[in-house]
Amino acid sequence: MSTHTSIAIGSDHAGFEYKRRIIELLRSQGHDVRDLGPADASSTDYPDWGHAVAQAVSTGEATMGILICGTGIGMSIVANKHTGVRAAVCESVTAARLSRQHNDANVLCIGERLTGWEQALDIVSTFLSTKFDGGERHVRRVRKLER
Ligand code: RB5
Repeated sequence: MSTHTSIAIGSDHAGFEYKRRIIELLRSQGHDVRDLGPADASSTDYPDWGHAVAQAVSTGEATMGILICGTGIGMSIVANKHTGVRAAVCESVTAARLSRQHNDANVLCIGERLTGWEQALDIVSTFLSTKFDGGERHVRRVRKLER
């Protein structure tokens, strides 16, 4: 993956531990990771952090986003309200790969309560290393998302 990719990451309390571990791992691999919070695992509202990460991706401050909550679902609902954001909840490596190849997803949502740590790691690395297919039919469909 290009080192020019910047990744914005956020969670709520239910996704805080995976956020901490993913940041540590990605930074150790040389990625530019911006932690948009929260700073601790106190109970908090996922939309606050989901909006922050989605806004960073929507404005181009970050190339990609990663959002973690209990299920990944709340974060995806929030993130997909932002223009230009294509957030995908992925519970498998296949879903992560296809969300990039077919949907050009730019925000990965993970559920810490539903996805084991090793699986989450594989999902993150697949999401970040897989390119959009770029085929005409996929470009056409992704364009239609913004109508
Ligand atoms: C928090 O308890 C939980 O509802 C939240 O993390 C998330 O799973 C919502 O989609």
